Amino acid sequence: MSEPASVASDTIAERLLAWYDRHARRLPWRAPPGQRADPYHVWLSEVMLQQTTVQTVQPYFHDFLSRWPSVHELAAAPREDVLAAWAGLGYYARARNLHACAQVVSRELGGVFPDTEAGLRKLPGIGPYTAAAIAAIAFDRPSAPLDGNIERVVARLFAVEDPLPGAKETLRARMGAIVPQQRPGDFAQAMMDLGAGICQPRKPRCMLCPLSDVCTASARGIAVDLPVKAAKKAKPTRQAVAFWTVRADGCVLLRRRPDKGLLGGMLEVPSTDWTEAPWAEGAAFAQAPISASWTELPGVVRHTFTHFHFTITVWAAEVPAHTRAETGEWWPFERLSDAGLPTVMRKIADHAVKKAAE
Ligand code: ADE
Repeated sequence: MSEPASVASDTIAERLLAWYDRHARRLPWRAPPGQRADPYHVWLSEVMLQQTTVQTVQPYFHDFLSRWPSVHELAAAPREDVLAAWAGLGYYARARNLHACAQVVSRELGGVFPDTEAGLRKLPGIGPYTAAAIAAIAFDRPSAPLDGNIERVVARLFAVEDPLPGAKETLRARMGAIVPQQRPGDFAQAMMDLGAGICQPRKPRCMLCPLSDVCTASARGIAVDLPVKAAKKAKPTRQAVAFWTVRADGCVLLRRRPDKGLLGGMLEVPSTDWTEAPWAEGAAFAQAPISASWTELPGVVRHTFTHFHFTITVWAAEVPAHTRAETGEWWPFERLSDAGLPTVMRKIADHAVKKAAE
């Protein structure tokens, strides 16, 4: 097959927008093609969608909007409530920044989101991608958001063979050059939809693609090989002993993590430090939150974070009612689902409950 001659960027936009008019996904934060969505909805969805799939985000999006229908209500909510509602979505700095951003928009900007990329960039938690996405989708600015889906589409369209992440700037420039002046917000969302539904990572469906005959990678038969990604570093493993402490009145001991850092501000099952070396019994014992008769539960809990694997051994103890702990708070076990435990802590709790019952 011959390669597409260099194609006018408006041809790409025209075809893609015509395809989007027929095939746009219906998503709860989205306005139909040709219309603009509420900036609060767009912002909330874009923050949730950083690092998280459309499918996972939808119930959280509905839940947030029903609790906090406007940016003013979200700003006025206690931070613990926002963090708890975020539990399970991961990357908890996003939730802390979301709340901080809502407070700036509500208290300093009268509830009105800035309508330019530069203005949006000044807000907590809004980086280059999110600013470009909100500017395009909520305000129809001709900005060029580049998420993983769009990177893949652009790398294939122009057969960019340099590996990511080094190729990012090339891809950004290529994307910038094809953004139309008309309907740039729909164009950005169309690129996202094309990447999600047609220009898929391992199985590009070129037969269904409105851009296949202007796509260089498709013409060369290399679409499936792009984008090239630099080899990832192997992840180290960290280890900890978690202490599942059940009081005779039916409460379990939880502890709030420091604001900064991983799972910042979230509740956790108390544990030793997280280290590369496994824990010897005596060393773990010295870090127990309470003096008790600990039993090691069989098996381990495993969880993977962005930069490391995590293996947790769980020790359990039952202590008398009214036992005090120096740090931490006692949560009624039957209300544990309201505690907003992050996924790894949920896994530890589930493991402890299961093994203790065996
Ligand atoms: N991924 C990131 N932002 C998105 C959006 N607005 N629609 C669909 N997928 C997305």
